[in-house]
Amino acid sequence: MPQPALIELKSVSKDYTIGDETLHALANVSLSIKPGEFIAITGPSGSGKSTLANIIGGLDKPDSGSVEVEGADLAKAGDRQLSVYRNKHIGFVFQAFNLQPTYTALENVMLPLVLAGAGGKERKARAQECLNDVGLADRMSHRPTQLSGGQRQRVSIARALANKPSIIIADEPTGNLDSAKGREIMTLLAGLNKQGITLIIITHDMEVAKQASRVLSIHDGAVKEGRS
Ligand SMILES: Nc1ncnc2c1ncn2[C@@H]1O[C@H](COP(=O)(O)OP(=O)(O)O)[C@@H](O)[C@H]1O
Ligand SMILES: [Mg+2]
Repeated sequence: MPQPALIELKSVSKDYTIGDETLHALANVSLSIKPGEFIAITGPSGSGKSTLANIIGGLDKPDSGSVEVEGADLAKAGDRQLSVYRNKHIGFVFQAFNLQPTYTALENVMLPLVLAGAGGKERKARAQECLNDVGLADRMSHRPTQLSGGQRQRVSIARALANKPSIIIADEPTGNLDSAKGREIMTLLAGLNKQGITLIIITHDMEVAKQASRVLSIHDGAVKEGRS
């Protein structure tokens, strides 16, 4: 029996219209991702990588096509359903970390647990556990400005893990880091995939793409299998 898909996109399109110009950010994209895969998405700047990641993660909706994740069609979901889906199933990691600057590392990691409705004691314990897992046990009360770039990205990975997601989507997670720190972050993310989390990483870095089990490349909104 073939393993059922975790993520299945069928004929997904997304256009942006500026003035009288229409830009096809995603043009008729179909793809299938199985549970536990490590997918690297590569492609030039402006090719549609973030648009694709945001649609898979329920941050954005396609104009047409279907986006099934664990059997539910995100293209048909309302805003409330999408935010529950994101909070429960997806961990996001962004190039610019996207941490709350006035919050400590612990508070940043507790935030998705607050949104999920976890009790005070439980969310603190879970956030501490996640920070411990990314090697930041001794930095929990630091604010983002008191942390290095690599440490900030670790906080954002801890935050992504808080609600035990089945999928992590990382959009150029090493883009703001030097190569040594970038490698550390990649090792951390690859380790999460080995524990069973489906990992989707957008990257320009061929060293990163090499570690993936499958590479998808995207050009002008069209996706193809393998390196371009
Ligand atoms: N909100 C938006 N409004 C208009 N155009 C957009 C918007 N978001 C993305 N685009 C355009 O869609 C294309 C794909 O963008 P994006 O998915 O961010 O590419 P990538 O992540 O590969 O650099 C680009 O040409 C970009 O300028
Ligand atoms: Mg992008």
